[in-house]
Amino acid sequence: MDRVIVSIGGSVLIPGKEDSTYIKSLASVLKEVSNEVYLIVVCGGGQVARYYSDIGKNLGGSIKQIDELCIEVTRINAGLLSMAIGGDGLKSVHTDIENCINMTSVGKVSIMGGTESGHTTDAVAAMIAKRYKANRIVNASNVNAIYSDDPKKNPEATKYSKITIDELSTIVYNKHVPCKSSVFDPLGVSIVKECKIDLVVVNGRNIKELKNAILGKEIEGTYVNPC
Ligand code: UTP
Repeated sequence: MDRVIVSIGGSVLIPGKEDSTYIKSLASVLKEVSNEVYLIVVCGGGQVARYYSDIGKNLGGSIKQIDELCIEVTRINAGLLSMAIGGDGLKSVHTDIENCINMTSVGKVSIMGGTESGHTTDAVAAMIAKRYKANRIVNASNVNAIYSDDPKKNPEATKYSKITIDELSTIVYNKHVPCKSSVFDPLGVSIVKECKIDLVVVNGRNIKELKNAILGKEIEGTYVNPC
């Protein structure tokens, strides 16, 4: 059975657009596919984390302090997904990678948020994938695929169906800044490269596409070749 790690952005979970309807259908598909793959889902912070980050910066908070606030937000978002899946909400959200892996089994969706300061939940997904020897990471994004530029800001941006990990590393930023958004986090990229883990980027709001990505089927998004 394949081992799959899903990194789902907060901007996909709670953008403020029919969020409960979306989270319900997401929960249902995750439960379904957890009978076909070992599944761990890592939730991001989205606009709520960004809000805390902005206020924290205005109040003179350090990067570590702001990261710690944002980590709590990622866990709260994860708590919503856990609730929808039938878990014990926030209490079912794992905070430790080892524990999360040990508790993963057929028919169960293990859920995490962030872990420690200095990276995003994409890196957490990559760390779990490394430790768990996962077959692939699915990045459930708020765009359809990886583009040469932000497709929301630049309509001329080229969509990539396939890209190498080296090409991806030229697109992502280098230095960690709380809540700086990018298609995948730079630490995540380096882990994917080091461990040669397949990475796919799909639109997380497209449930059918997300399901295909988790099951390793053909997708409309981007396949990142780790070699
Ligand atoms: P996210 O993973 O949500 O970042 O973490 P993001 O790229 O903004 O993703 P979206 O918008 O959800 O798609 C938000 C912030 O939380 C802190 C970092 O500051 C990160 O930028 N964080 C998160 C950590 O410090 N450590 C973690 O393990 C996770």
